[in-house]
Amino acid sequence: MDLYEYQARDLFEANGVPVLRGIVASTPAQAREAAEQLGSEVVVVKAQVKTGGRGKAGGVKLAKSPEEAEERASEILGLDIKGHVVEKVMVAEGADIAEEYYFSLLLDRANRSYLAMCSLAGGMDIEALAEEHPDELVKMPVDPRRGLDMDAADELVSLVGFSADDRDEVARVLTLLGKTYAESDATLVEVNPLVKTGDGRILALDGKVSLDDNADFRHPEWEEWRDESRDDPLELRAREKGLNYVKLDGQVGVIGNGAGLVMSTLDVVAYAGEDLPGSPTPANFLDIGGGASAQVMADGLDIILSDQQVSVVFVNVFGGITACSEVAKGIRGALMQLGNRASKPIVVRLDGNAVDVGLAMLGEYDHPLVTIEKTMDGAARRAAELASAAMEGK
Ligand SMILES: Nc1ncnc2c1ncn2[C@@H]1O[C@H](COP(=O)(O)OP(=O)(O)OP(=O)(O)O)[C@@H](O)[C@H]1O
Ligand SMILES: [Mg+2]
Repeated sequence: MDLYEYQARDLFEANGVPVLRGIVASTPAQAREAAEQLGSEVVVVKAQVKTGGRGKAGGVKLAKSPEEAEERASEILGLDIKGHVVEKVMVAEGADIAEEYYFSLLLDRANRSYLAMCSLAGGMDIEALAEEHPDELVKMPVDPRRGLDMDAADELVSLVGFSADDRDEVARVLTLLGKTYAESDATLVEVNPLVKTGDGRILALDGKVSLDDNADFRHPEWEEWRDESRDDPLELRAREKGLNYVKLDGQVGVIGNGAGLVMSTLDVVAYAGEDLPGSPTPANFLDIGGGASAQVMADGLDIILSDQQVSVVFVNVFGGITACSEVAKGIRGALMQLGNRASKPIVVRLDGNAVDVGLAMLGEYDHPLVTIEKTMDGAARRAAELASAAMEGK
C-alpha cells in the first residue's frame, strides 16, 4: 500500500522526524480554514495524489493569505494529474528553504539488502537525478539486520558530503527515517526534498512511503489508511473475500490457480491480443490458489464479471490440489448465483486432477456462455478474439 503525502507526514511526525504542520482539505473553504488555523505567513497548497511530478503539473502552489489558499485549492482540486483526479489537498506551512536534498531508503530484493540513496541535489525527481547527475547520487547498501543506525547514517552523510555543520543533524534525521522504515514495515521511504531552512533546521518537506502488505496483520492501524487509499472498489471487495486480485487495464478477465500459472496466462493473453483489432489485454490478475473450493471460484467470477471493462473471462486451471471438478462446480455455482448478471462469455481450459469429471460436468451443464478449449494457447486466442470482437462492436 502506498501512502498519500499527508499520511506519510503523519507517520514521520509520529516517529519524531521533523516535519511542518499540514492540514488536509477537500474543499476550497476547508483549505481557507486550514490556512487560518496554521496562521503562517505563507502556506503551500499541495495536491494529494499517488503519483509523482505534482509540482510540474500545477499541483503545488504557494499562498500568502487564507483567501489565496482558498483560490489555489479551487484551482488544484479536480485537477487531473497523470490520470489521478485530485480530491484532497494538504495545506502546509511554508518553509524558508535554503537547500534541497534527496533521500530514500528502500528494499533491494535482488541483493537481499536495504539500499539508501542520498544526494545534495534534491527537489527534482529521482529518475532525472539519476540520469542527469549520476555521480551526485550516493547509493549505499544498508544491512537489514541493523537498519539505518547512527553508524550507517554517519557514513552516508560523509559519503554524500554534507557540510560539517549539518552532518550531525542530517544523520539524526536519517536515523529517524530509518526507524520509521523498520517499525512501519515499509519497502520505501523517500523524502524529496529533504530541506535545510534559512535558520538551519533539517525538515522532511515531501514524503513518499510504501508499506509491505504482507505485514498488515501486525498493523491494525493501517486499516484507516487502507479505507482512504484503496481507490479500486473491486480490489477492496476481493480483499474482503480473501482473494489474490489485482486490477489491470484490459478487457480479458483472468482466473487461474497458482501465481506462476496466472502470470503466464497474462502473458499469453497479451500475446494473443497483440495483433488483433483493439489489441485486447488482461483485465486482472486473480489467483484462486491451491485447493480452491467452488465458493472461491464463484467469488472470483463474481468480482471479475462486475468489472465494467471486462468483455470475456478466461478460466485457466491446472488441477493439482485443486480438482477440476471443484472448478467446474464453482463455475456452475457462480453462473447460477449471478443469473442475468452473468452476460459475458467464459472460456475455460482445464487440465490435471479430475479433468474428465470437470469437463463432463461442464458439458452436461451446457451453459451458452461457456466455451471449453483444450490448450492454454488456444483458450487465450479464443478469449482475445472474443474481447477484440466486443471492442470492435462498441
Ligand atoms: N511546505 C513547503 N514550503 C515551501 N516550499 C515547498 C513546500 N513544500 C514543497 N515546496 C516546494 O515545492 C517543490 C515541490 O514540492 P513536492 O516535492 O512536495 O512535490 P513534487 O516533488 O512536485 O511532487 P512529487 O514528489 O509527488 O513528484 C519542492 O521541491 C519545494 O521547493
Ligand atoms: Mg517531491
